[in-house]
Amino acid sequence: MQAEALLDVRNLRKSYPISTGAFTKSERRTVAVDEISFALERGETLGIVGESGCGKTTLARMLLRLIEPDSGELRFRGQNWLGARGADLRALRRRMQMVFQDPVASLNPRMRVGAIIGEPLAVHEPDLSRSKRRDRVAEILEAVGLSAESLDRYPHEFSGGQRQRIGIARALILRPELVIADEPVSALDVSVGAQILELLARLQREFSLTLILISHSLPVVAQLATRVAVMQSGRIVEIGAAGHVLGAPRHPYTKSLIAAVPQIPA
Ligand SMILES: Nc1ncnc2c1ncn2[C@@H]1O[C@H](COP(=O)(O)OP(=O)(O)O)[C@@H](O)[C@H]1O
Ligand SMILES: [Mg+2]
Repeated sequence: MQAEALLDVRNLRKSYPISTGAFTKSERRTVAVDEISFALERGETLGIVGESGCGKTTLARMLLRLIEPDSGELRFRGQNWLGARGADLRALRRRMQMVFQDPVASLNPRMRVGAIIGEPLAVHEPDLSRSKRRDRVAEILEAVGLSAESLDRYPHEFSGGQRQRIGIARALILRPELVIADEPVSALDVSVGAQILELLARLQREFSLTLILISHSLPVVAQLATRVAVMQSGRIVEIGAAGHVLGAPRHPYTKSLIAAVPQIPA
């Protein structure tokens, strides 16, 4: 028997109403994600690449059930993820976490870093003592390359790269199985972004994570992905092992993405 996929995505679809002004009632809708299917194997890093507006974030938000699809099926760890309710929903939800593009917008400026990172613990493990929670936060801070002193500081005291490390620490504090990083380095300088990608690669090994790395940038995806899905206009036009998709692309759109990457002169 084939090993069960961690996440099984079938014919996922999402459309949004097209706004045509305040007083016109329109039934027209734009399809953001159009019948997407794929299976995510445990331990893999799936890179999802495609230009801005092609539906990457909509797909990510559906996978995490932050928004509901119009139709399609989702199985997570073999369970019907779209149908999960109550305790099942909470138990599954803590196993998947998101890392956001904008570390500034995603961190509450009035909360200390220790409280920001510890918040998911307070929600999901309310019986944990304060000191135990603090220990867990200090531990995860160290794992992302920040000192334990960061606990008592506020987000604005950190650089963009450090703030993304805080966002990653918050995503990892519950020890999820699946992490979806949506444009995690797009707001950062290239060199800082490269360090964050290296960190994600190391954490993936250390925490045995399954990772979905979403980016409009092919070089970013190429740096970490073991498998690559290329999205265009709400569809996956090509998916396969990173070496195949990047080394021998078959779809014209993949070819054009690769051709657009500036070559470093040897
Ligand atoms: N909340 C929304 N309401 C209406 N349209 C949306 C909404 N979110 C996204 N869209 C539209 O759906 C399409 C896909 O957007 P998105 O998933 O954000 O793409 P990406 O992350 O690849 O840039 C775009 O055309 C976008 O304008
Ligand atoms: Mg997006």
